[in-house]
Amino acid sequence: MKAIVATDQTAEAAGITLAERPEPTPAINDVVVEVQASGFVPAEWEWPSTWVDRSGRDRADAIIGHELAGVVTALGYGTTGLSLGQRVIGITDWHRDGTLAEYTAVEARNLAPLPGDVDFTVGAALPISGLTAWQGLFQHGRLRAGQTVLAHGAAGAVGSVVTQLAREFGAYVIGTGRAADRQAALDFGANEFLDLDGEQLEDVGGVDLVFDVIGGDVQRRSASIIRPGGTLVSVVGPAEHRPVDGLAVDFVVESVPGQLIEIVDRVRDGRLRTHIGTVATLDDAIPALNPTTRRKGKTVIRVRP
Ligand SMILES: NC(=O)c1ccc[n+]([C@@H]2O[C@H](COP(=O)([O-])OP(=O)(O)OC[C@H]3O[C@@H](n4cnc5c(N)ncnc54)[C@H](OP(=O)(O)O)[C@@H]3O)[C@@H](O)[C@H]2O)c1
Repeated sequence: MKAIVATDQTAEAAGITLAERPEPTPAINDVVVEVQASGFVPAEWEWPSTWVDRSGRDRADAIIGHELAGVVTALGYGTTGLSLGQRVIGITDWHRDGTLAEYTAVEARNLAPLPGDVDFTVGAALPISGLTAWQGLFQHGRLRAGQTVLAHGAAGAVGSVVTQLAREFGAYVIGTGRAADRQAALDFGANEFLDLDGEQLEDVGGVDLVFDVIGGDVQRRSASIIRPGGTLVSVVGPAEHRPVDGLAVDFVVESVPGQLIEIVDRVRDGRLRTHIGTVATLDDAIPALNPTTRRKGKTVIRVRP
């Protein structure tokens, strides 16, 4: 089968290349999914799990991509809860061969059903961005209605979902980003927008929850405006800057089928809009995964166009 593999951690764009690989076989409690579409997170080739397995062994030449929409084609020994031919979405284990391939083997517990009226491209755009936003706001950030959320990168893949879910939940949302992102962030539902290059974060006043997708100095300055008892949620590694009287949490998203079902429901009834930027085929995936111009929204590779 065709697959995109990362060959060299030190090379430009991790030396990603289109290669031939054997089709996977399902392990205990796995299914094999015929991948229809795969999402992609730009920083993936910087993650340690792309290069070593859980025991620290070399994973060079691993298949990248870890979110999918597809169809179950085989069941492993002992697998329950999914059937052959079922449409599914989900996040796959970071340390296993991934989803930028014609087939992938994945634990059944990481998958949720994808209703027939949701397109595979849309389905593939949801798992990582949707679950990251959901878990950051509700599990780790313990958001309450009426609170104020500072949603960094509000026009990006994760930030656009953070903005929409927080608004739906009854929060007041201040979106941030580049000046050019103002209208997009407001269209996703931000109550107001702050241009991080041209305006002062400190002018925002107090917020209850910062959802940080940027880190560095933006994180430091954001931590200083968190109200007592508030939370800094970081998805860009351990929070280096903590609120004086509050909590700092960082996490890596997990595949939670019940939450995926909630997210898909919202897409179906129009409460949630996806933010899909580039869509490319597997044959044309390399430039799409490593663009020379600025990304706008989620990159989705249609493995079967
Ligand atoms: N921990 C986890 O489980 C998890 C899950 C998903 C994503 N992530 C991480 O979260 C980050 C965001 O992911 P994403 O998919 O949402 O990326 P994305 O679509 O590129 O969104 C990020 C947004 O933030 C903006 N931004 C970044 N730095 C900025 C700055 N200094 N000033 C103003 N705007 C800035 C970007 O604009 P520009 O493009 O112009 O920079 C972009 O609009 C990535 O680092 C990703 O690896 C972590």
